[in-house]
Amino acid sequence: MKLYYATASPFVRKVMVLAIETGLIDDIELVKVALSPVQPDADVCADNPLGKIPTLVRDDGGALFDSRVICEYLDGLHDGPRMFPESGEARWTALRRQALVDGILDAAVSTRYETFLRPEELRWRDWVDGQMGKVRRGLDVLEGERLNGAIDIGTIAVACMLGYLDFRFPDEGWRDARPGLAAWYEEMAARPAMTRTVPE
Ligand code: BEZ
Repeated sequence: MKLYYATASPFVRKVMVLAIETGLIDDIELVKVALSPVQPDADVCADNPLGKIPTLVRDDGGALFDSRVICEYLDGLHDGPRMFPESGEARWTALRRQALVDGILDAAVSTRYETFLRPEELRWRDWVDGQMGKVRRGLDVLEGERLNGAIDIGTIAVACMLGYLDFRFPDEGWRDARPGLAAWYEEMAARPAMTRTVPE
């Protein structure tokens, strides 16, 4: 199978961290692409009409997207501990965390586009403030959660999101009022799956 990727994408990173943690990474051909919402990649668009990464093309040619679908698909291909807990409260906690984090990332990536890609004279400050409000409220909720325990899709998502904030929002200072989250991330970021996927 083939994965269209760019290391800057936190959604790609989630897929790659899961693939490394589950021992599947060597079964995946990695195809690096450079794209943005205003400069789509023709090959990616041929497999995913949305032109977004990550897109996974399976060996039978069927493409899967987005990161949530790809992660759940990959989690069905290995014999190790499940990254998507199968039942009970652990399942809902992991899925809810992944949804919260994807929302935080949608807001952060949207801010990145607004402040970097969008022509300066068209930028909308209230939009950025609204998006960053989602990021900060989401981080405050995660600060109040006990993230320690087994690695799963929820905690992988949280780690990739925090890595993205360090990468694109180094001045945000997300650690300042969130010591629990910062301590948890320091340990999580040292895992080989995280050090192998640091954004460039
Ligand atoms: C970024 O460069 O920040 C980025 C790239 C791909 C997807 C999301 C974000």
